[in-house]
Amino acid sequence: MGSRIENVIRTAVHTFATKPNGSLVNTNINHNLNVLRQLLNEICPAEDLGLSRNSGQPRFSLSLFPSRTAPVSYMEIFENQTVSIGVFILKDGASIPLHDHVGMHGILKVLYGTLNVQSYSPSQYIKARRFPVSCISEKDSPAMLSPSDHNLHTIGTVGGSASFLDILAPPYDPDGTCGNIRDCYYYADVGEGGPCNSEIRLLKRTSCPSSFWCDSVTYCGPDIKHLHHEFN
Ligand SMILES: [Fe+2]
Repeated sequence: MGSRIENVIRTAVHTFATKPNGSLVNTNINHNLNVLRQLLNEICPAEDLGLSRNSGQPRFSLSLFPSRTAPVSYMEIFENQTVSIGVFILKDGASIPLHDHVGMHGILKVLYGTLNVQSYSPSQYIKARRFPVSCISEKDSPAMLSPSDHNLHTIGTVGGSASFLDILAPPYDPDGTCGNIRDCYYYADVGEGGPCNSEIRLLKRTSCPSSFWCDSVTYCGPDIKHLHHEFN
């Protein structure tokens, strides 16, 4: 039997596999999503991902770069044409600006700390339904997004640094070549989008705020190299 992270990768690839026309092979995606959520609930960051028990930082790689100042770091775990899986690590006070995942599914599992997630579902072009902020920690089940629901979100720390495991399908860059890349846009919430419902918001596309950037750290969990051969 493989490691827990291997089971997550295998299940994610199976769940989100697509036919040549882009439709999902799996006809019962909700069942598979529930299995995936359960597997994510059982992930142990230290044992399964090589993240240190207290800080949620990789146990080895960050100490090699003491001058790092990026507010957010990303640790890629696995990526192929079907899914991208990695861990975002946010310093205390950091946030990921409001952004979209056009046509994607997503699963976000908090590993350490607590996050405020403000999500929106697109209702029309740049008009979006705003949901109440959800405050989630490692005790909570994963948060989900789909092409039509909660597809835009902003994510910020609450009372300290935090990290979360992120599964996106399909990936932003499915070929890994930057040749067929799926755009990610950033937005500002500029006010009410209609007279009758204050939760329908008008979102304006903006450039990425200069306060946000992301560097990368190296995965140091269980060996999953064989999966890159198997699934690529
Ligand atoms: Fe996101």
